[in-house]
Amino acid sequence: MKTLLTGLKPSGDLHIGNYLGTGLPDWKKWTGEYSCIFFIPDLHSLTEEFEPGDKTEQILRVAAAILALGIDPDKCIFFRQADVLEHTNLMWIFNCITSMGQLERMTQYKDKVARKIENNNAGLFTYPVLQAADILLYEPDVVPVGIDQKQHIELTRDIAVKFNNRFGQTFKLPEPQFSDFKKVMSLTDPESKMSKSHGEKSYIALHDEPEVIMEKMKKAVTDEVGLKNLYDLANYFIPGFDAKQYTDQNAKFKEDLAVAIADHFADFRKKRLELLAHPENIIQILQKGAEKARAIANPKLIEAWKKIGLIG
Ligand code: ADP
Ligand code: TRP
Repeated sequence: MKTLLTGLKPSGDLHIGNYLGTGLPDWKKWTGEYSCIFFIPDLHSLTEEFEPGDKTEQILRVAAAILALGIDPDKCIFFRQADVLEHTNLMWIFNCITSMGQLERMTQYKDKVARKIENNNAGLFTYPVLQAADILLYEPDVVPVGIDQKQHIELTRDIAVKFNNRFGQTFKLPEPQFSDFKKVMSLTDPESKMSKSHGEKSYIALHDEPEVIMEKMKKAVTDEVGLKNLYDLANYFIPGFDAKQYTDQNAKFKEDLAVAIADHFADFRKKRLELLAHPENIIQILQKGAEKARAIANPKLIEAWKKIGLIG
């Protein structure tokens, strides 16, 4: 069986942009097709603004969301990054073979700096190096990610090639896999992508209650771009959707779409709340997953140390 690895950052509520863009609807199916490794890159989320008191809650919420999608932790390896110390150790080694120029070319970093974010920390710059370590430790064949992560996977491959050429064959080159749904746009400003950072009304969270979805949908902008975005969503959420049925009936269309989205996540909402009622169980699942992850990551790190000459 081929190995598949992917991660989802705990930086706030998941919205339908994250859901469709990162291929989340397929995660459950993948557990039957691949040997799957799913993890929560909590250290990556520290590059963004956060309150220390919120972090554990954010990790639990994203873990509950992943489990509520029907992912069985016994059929995959499911853990959080900070529990497996090998990631940051390998990252340091990769830092020492990655050039400043390579990282300066990363468009996600450049975009973040261009937006003049106040918190321009060094972690944002070396973010893709940690991502390379996350991936290469486990030798996955496939890494499903949103299209915005394409360059990070290319860098991961470059780092693997550089390490292998300098120290001998150690890391396998992974293949990226992209979701068909490239970009979901904001409900309130359809020119920009749906994002947590544009305010609650701009996105539909996976756990939003039906009346909240209806409210947000009613206020969604329906200029040409906005309507195209809603049609794309309808194509996914309404089976057999035909836009012609709704000519000059935007209000009815938005209502039907809101109901379809709410129905799609009905089971998810229920399971998520059940899981969040017992955070201790989620923590236990993640700890068990971390043990399984370490059993793969540790020997790989030791192999890298040996190749470099850090140990005999
Ligand atoms: P946000 O912009 O809400 O903070 P993140 O940057 O944390 O979202 O997104 C995590 C991943 O989800 C991204 O790497 C990207 O692949 C995917 N993603 C986020 N927003 C969208 C969107 N609007 N459309 C498609 N994919 C998205
Ligand atoms: N950078 C990814 C994102 O923002 C999250 C991530 C971190 C990741 N490490 C990873 C995804 C390793 C896939 C594999 O979506």
